[in-house]
Amino acid sequence: MQQERGQWQSTAGFILAAAGSAIGLGNIWRFPYVAGTNGGAAFVFIYLVCVALICLPYLFCELSIGRRTGRNPVGAMLALKGKSPWSLVGGLGVLTGVCILSYYGVIAGWAFGYIFKSFVAPAMSLGDFSANALVAVPLFALFLLFTVLVVARGVEKGIEKSARILMPMLLVLMLLLIVRGLTLPGAMKGVEFLVKPDFSVVTPATVLAALGQAFFSLSLGMGAMITYGSYLPKSANLPTSGVWVALFDTGIALLAGFMIFPALFALGGNPSSGPPLIFEVLPRVFEQMPMGAVVAAVFFILLSIAALTSTVSLLEVPVSYVVDEKRWSRKKSVWVIGGAAFALGLPAALEPSTPALQSMSFLGATGFLSVMDLIWGNISLGVGAMLLCIFTGWVWGFRNAGAELQQGGTMSDGMVKVWGLFIRFICPIFIFLVLLSLFPFGARFLASLGIG
Ligand code: PHE
Repeated sequence: MQQERGQWQSTAGFILAAAGSAIGLGNIWRFPYVAGTNGGAAFVFIYLVCVALICLPYLFCELSIGRRTGRNPVGAMLALKGKSPWSLVGGLGVLTGVCILSYYGVIAGWAFGYIFKSFVAPAMSLGDFSANALVAVPLFALFLLFTVLVVARGVEKGIEKSARILMPMLLVLMLLLIVRGLTLPGAMKGVEFLVKPDFSVVTPATVLAALGQAFFSLSLGMGAMITYGSYLPKSANLPTSGVWVALFDTGIALLAGFMIFPALFALGGNPSSGPPLIFEVLPRVFEQMPMGAVVAAVFFILLSIAALTSTVSLLEVPVSYVVDEKRWSRKKSVWVIGGAAFALGLPAALEPSTPALQSMSFLGATGFLSVMDLIWGNISLGVGAMLLCIFTGWVWGFRNAGAELQQGGTMSDGMVKVWGLFIRFICPIFIFLVLLSLFPFGARFLASLGIG
């Protein structure tokens, strides 16, 4: 079993792989459109506060659980607490990994297809492109295949090595596109949109969107960081590594904003176009540039790279579970779970061509893919994070977790105490209130208390 697990070759390798998990469609596709529909700079400000005060303390919970136990999310709960309902929280994480992978892979497949689309059919809309099942389904399958092949190679040779090559490539490509956008006349309006906050547009829904986006973007709430933390040696400095991962992820989200909005404003696009923003608006922006098809291809290569290092982590969580707990080989695990994600994701891939799937709705989300994203990408991550805060703070105990954080690093006892306050009180209560506001009865209740 031990040789089926693995260990990062270096702390830098871990940071790159964890940042690779965090940086994905969430940063480049979701962050700009959510920021765009929520008023720009004010949203960005609240997002940054959520990352620093809620997500970062919580990230330390996942990393300490992972490294202490050296196990997957279910195994970790079993190791710390024995057979107890807490293993179900780990199980929820494993399930969430498969479910997010299923619809995330569909969008990643579109991104991959768009690399070629800019040359073949530049004028085609996202709707027409994705409604062609004979294109969307094979692209989805292909993207899952890439993911399976990376994860099959294991932690060091597959995940760490690919991240070491792909992450620096991503950064270089982004910087090129940012310079291109910023040098267009009128680009400064886009910069202003991102840095001059107008707080009058902030509502409780803005806070909800910011917190949900922060958890999703940092890959938190489903044990991805428990799993990646489990491959860390005792000598690694957990708090510093965690801060680096959060900085990289946040930095790339902001860069994505600076890559998109200046070009968008310069060429006259609408910032609140919603989910199609980068698929519909950006290609039109690129078209107006010299060598637009090449720029577009570069952009979608970049998006595919970012998505791949994230789908790898989504697959790794359930794979580590069956490898550790069921003693499956890594090879069998990746194919079986990859196949399950394909089956689960088929309705999302077929939604654009199937009216019945488009009209599904739940708590304000419409369409199969959006409903899946609400349930797994928002609610499940929030519930998982809240329960894991409670577990770390009150059940395993923040002092035990703190001792793990201190090993290999320089975190002082005073800092552990402050961190304990966050994960026992501030984080779980805040996440609870935000989750409550998602449901109509909860929103009414909060309004009656004068919150929101
Ligand atoms: N963080 C990834 C992104 O921003 C998505 C993800 C969520 C990956 C949860 C793993 C776990 O695209």
